[in-house]
Amino acid sequence: MKSTASFATRIVNWYDNHGRKTLPWQQDKTPYRVWVSEIMLQQTQVATVIPYYQRFMARFPDVLALANAPDDEVLHHWTGLGYYARARNLHKAAKMIRDLYQGQFPTDFEQVLALPGIGRSTAGAVLSLSLGQHHPILDGNVKRVLARHGAIAGWPGQKPVEEQLWQLTEQLTPEQDIQKYNQAMMDIGASICTRSKPNCAACPVAVDCKAQLMGRQTDFPGKKPKKTIPEKAAWMLVLLKDNQVFLAKRQPAGIWGGLWCFPEFSTQAALNAALEAQGYHAAQLEPLIGFRHTFSHFHLDIQPMLLNLDSHANGYNKQTLGKQSVGAVMEQNQSLWYNINQPSKVGLAAATERVLANLESLITATVSKQ
Ligand code: ADE
Repeated sequence: MKSTASFATRIVNWYDNHGRKTLPWQQDKTPYRVWVSEIMLQQTQVATVIPYYQRFMARFPDVLALANAPDDEVLHHWTGLGYYARARNLHKAAKMIRDLYQGQFPTDFEQVLALPGIGRSTAGAVLSLSLGQHHPILDGNVKRVLARHGAIAGWPGQKPVEEQLWQLTEQLTPEQDIQKYNQAMMDIGASICTRSKPNCAACPVAVDCKAQLMGRQTDFPGKKPKKTIPEKAAWMLVLLKDNQVFLAKRQPAGIWGGLWCFPEFSTQAALNAALEAQGYHAAQLEPLIGFRHTFSHFHLDIQPMLLNLDSHANGYNKQTLGKQSVGAVMEQNQSLWYNINQPSKVGLAAATERVLANLESLITATVSKQ
């Protein structure tokens, strides 16, 4: 049988020839800079992350700048990236590093692992990529490469399957070249060993990949058992006046925690009643484009309802909108008039952004018709 170089040697050689070396977080590598990049890169592709990363680093160049920043500003820099728990944990961890470690990012694995939002793989990635410490990693990309290469059956969300994959990554991770190896494994998972159409011709470890040899690449890793998730509905009140919309800050817990949103109601009747209680006419509401937003545990069918106060001269005074009209999911007293043309620096819920985008195209279309 023809001998092949070891798994790790082929991965590292691939990195030397094909790996990316010029990404913003690969310059001036510090644990802080690599940490922020790893958190942004969870569930988000490199091309999307780059501009967010650059803006984030310009505003929060080190742990202390992040720790001392207001919540709203951190979330503002995350608006559009999604999965906001990542930003909240990043901020919380920065404050812990400020208070426990004098603002110096810890270099001890257990201390890094104890920070909010950092699991075993991310702790390993941060310390290996920034400082060359020897730690195996196992993010979603690496799981896919290893599950295919070793034909490891089962869904990695099950503990025994995950443990098997951790054993494999520990065995295969080389003593030398840890930075190149770990970065290459993530890059190969993201760009070659992709979920649905792996490009095995470009893969340095395809020759002994069990899934490839069986022609069963997409059977690995095993799929998560399908569960049906419930459907809920939400009506959102979009009050528009002078190019401003009324937003309220959501309570810290629950969906879109701490982000800014239109007042939300679980039925249209509740929305109408809140409006009528303030002296407005529900009959003047116009439906905007509805859409579905899917969370991990439910679908939310959202119907935004516009009340354009400019086109209905009903004696409305901005200051009179009472707190009681803001749905119960909102924080009391935290509301603002958000100027569409001069956006406030706050974190917006994904649904808020989507409604705003629809509203802007509606306003542009209306203006250009006039
Ligand atoms: N996904 C998570 N971390 C990554 C990294 N460092 N490079 C590419 N994709 C990633």
